[in-house]
Amino acid sequence: MNIDANRLLAVAEEAATEAGALIFQKRKTAFKVSKKGKVNLVTEVDLAAEELIVSTVHRHFPEHQILAEERGSAEGTVPIKWVIDPIDGTTNYAHDYPFFCVSIGIEIEGALAAGVVHDPVSRETFTAVSGEGAYLNGKPIQVSSESSLVDSLLVTGFSYGTPEIQKNLRLFNEMMMEARSVRRDGSAALDLCYVACGRYEGFWELSLQPWDVAAGSLIVQEAGGMVTRFDQTNATIYDRECLATNGKVHQAISEILTRACNFPDDL
Ligand code: IPD
Ligand code: CA
Ligand code: CA
Repeated sequence: MNIDANRLLAVAEEAATEAGALIFQKRKTAFKVSKKGKVNLVTEVDLAAEELIVSTVHRHFPEHQILAEERGSAEGTVPIKWVIDPIDGTTNYAHDYPFFCVSIGIEIEGALAAGVVHDPVSRETFTAVSGEGAYLNGKPIQVSSESSLVDSLLVTGFSYGTPEIQKNLRLFNEMMMEARSVRRDGSAALDLCYVACGRYEGFWELSLQPWDVAAGSLIVQEAGGMVTRFDQTNATIYDRECLATNGKVHQAISEILTRACNFPDDL
């Protein structure tokens, strides 16, 4: 398709900045919080931010497709899909823990073309266009050059399902013994961007959704990192598991994760 991905990114940045301002402004107000599951939250700010993003996208590109966390998918007439997480880190947001972001990734004909992750608290905006590198507030970023797992700082996330939490606790346990340490920050999109700019050497998670990883996985790859499934086979944003690293510690982490995934359940 003959469309300039930089034009799409400009609209994505506009939408993410507007939504970020709304989220930031509402963060200490008495917004309504509802439960989508036992511990899976949605706030009225998630819904308002998503509405704002979708209306900005449709104002510029009424023919584009949408895949958004809270409203699901909307058809379009061209093969361009906006994959939107209005607040990644909703649990943090609901508890006024200042680690959350807006994430927007764009696919053209099924391939990631552009992405933005905007953190309104630290005022950091991570961007990438396929083939053109990754940026933080307009400056080029790169993954870390650390190649030793014992000197690596890692991050993971726990999704909302009990079996996945139990399984990831096993992986967490194994990785804590091999790496310098492991964090759990509560926003997969920011976790990926922190790998992209070298703050973390690697990130893994078991049970993700496309809107968690669409922007961040392109940003990691454009910063020189690797994004695969745990066994190093190709990952798409529709896979539930994700291993994203600086490339140098990928093999070592992959071996530990795949081994620990195969432990019998009663260990
Ligand atoms: C969640 C966050 C969290 C990750 C979960 C996601 P949400 O997204 O990214 O870090 O561990 O798997 O569902 O619900 O805050 O948009
Ligand atoms: Ca999310
Ligand atoms: Ca969300």
